[in-house]
Amino acid sequence: MTILVTGGAGFIGSAVIRLAVSRGLSVVNLDALTYAASLENVASVASSPLYAFEHADIRDRAALERIFAAHQPDAVMHLAAESHVDRSIDGPSDFIETNINGTFNLLEAARKYWVGKGKPDDFRFHHISTDEVYGSLPADPSVKFTEETRYDPRSPYSASKAAADHLVRAWHETYGLPVVLTNCSNNYGPYHFPEKLIPLMIIKALAGEPLPVYGDGSNVRDWLYVDDHADALLTVLRRGETGRSYNIGGNSERTNLELVTVLCAVLDELRPSGQSHASLIRFVEDRPGHDARYAIDVSRIAGELGWRPSVTLDEGLRRTVEWYLDNESWWRPLLARKGAGERLGTKV
Ligand SMILES: NC(=O)c1ccc[n+]([C@@H]2O[C@H](COP(=O)([O-])OP(=O)(O)OC[C@H]3O[C@@H](n4cnc5c(N)ncnc54)[C@H](O)[C@@H]3O)[C@@H](O)[C@H]2O)c1
Repeated sequence: MTILVTGGAGFIGSAVIRLAVSRGLSVVNLDALTYAASLENVASVASSPLYAFEHADIRDRAALERIFAAHQPDAVMHLAAESHVDRSIDGPSDFIETNINGTFNLLEAARKYWVGKGKPDDFRFHHISTDEVYGSLPADPSVKFTEETRYDPRSPYSASKAAADHLVRAWHETYGLPVVLTNCSNNYGPYHFPEKLIPLMIIKALAGEPLPVYGDGSNVRDWLYVDDHADALLTVLRRGETGRSYNIGGNSERTNLELVTVLCAVLDELRPSGQSHASLIRFVEDRPGHDARYAIDVSRIAGELGWRPSVTLDEGLRRTVEWYLDNESWWRPLLARKGAGERLGTKV
């Protein structure tokens, strides 16, 4: 089986590629190599005969058509996207161009290819999306996002992902393209670009710099270890029902303040610095439109496909801190990229 993975030089796409190759699947990594990408993320599989790389942009339809024709994939896993909410607040246009127009291009290129092959039933277009399309939940822990939750995106990022989800469903209903969709909660783990909360906090704490926590730190996220997400995605690709959506989450809700406090405790143990790293925590002006709470009901993927997260949050956070301690040569050069480590998302 050959899978065309878009965004495979990013955080989650690279985890999917490493896992797929380890399971004997052929992968074509299509990536535009934006600021968020690093080919080092896939260095461990780059020399495998199961791996190929195509430097291309999903906004370039001709390039997509050439790549489909050249590699004859059995499935597409579409992860390429602009993914940082704060950047979407400062500059939404890239999010519209890549996440909406790029997805449209990819759907059209996939449809042309699929029709040309005689519309095989077993072809799959797997669109990877976010729980942020559902908006924000109240504090009541019994209320979670299900696949039936009404879409209510509230940031340019989540609105662009919601639009893409609608396009993918429309291509299934209208043209019969065999699609599956997944909406996942916040991921964390190795190779996470240092602008996102967890790596940012680890790197700032190591430097003894203030740890900026938005608002009062009470926003709740449901965290999932990235390799568990990759496993869920390959499960849905293989066994998910065509035309169906699956929510993916970690059953691990924490406030941002709780999360940063745990990271500090792990760092206190692994890299003691005289004073607790938690003393570096500072509350800063909140993100505009900051969603209060996300939580995923995983009943569908658990009940229908038997998937469950395997890494607890405490174990995953420890592994992640250890990875950042051991891999400074990966993250240090990325700090020089535009905007990395800076406060973004305030230009309203
Ligand atoms: N990170 C999360 O917690 C999370 C949670 C749920 C869903 N998602 C979704 O998963 C996907 C991957 O997220 P991530 O965190 O790995 O993102 P990322 O920013 O780390 O990686 C995105 C990748 O897409 C590539 N890309 C961007 N624009 C492109 C374009 N026009 N053409 C080709 N490639 C392009 C980048 O170069 C990069 O390698 C996204 O679709 C995101 O919406 C992410």
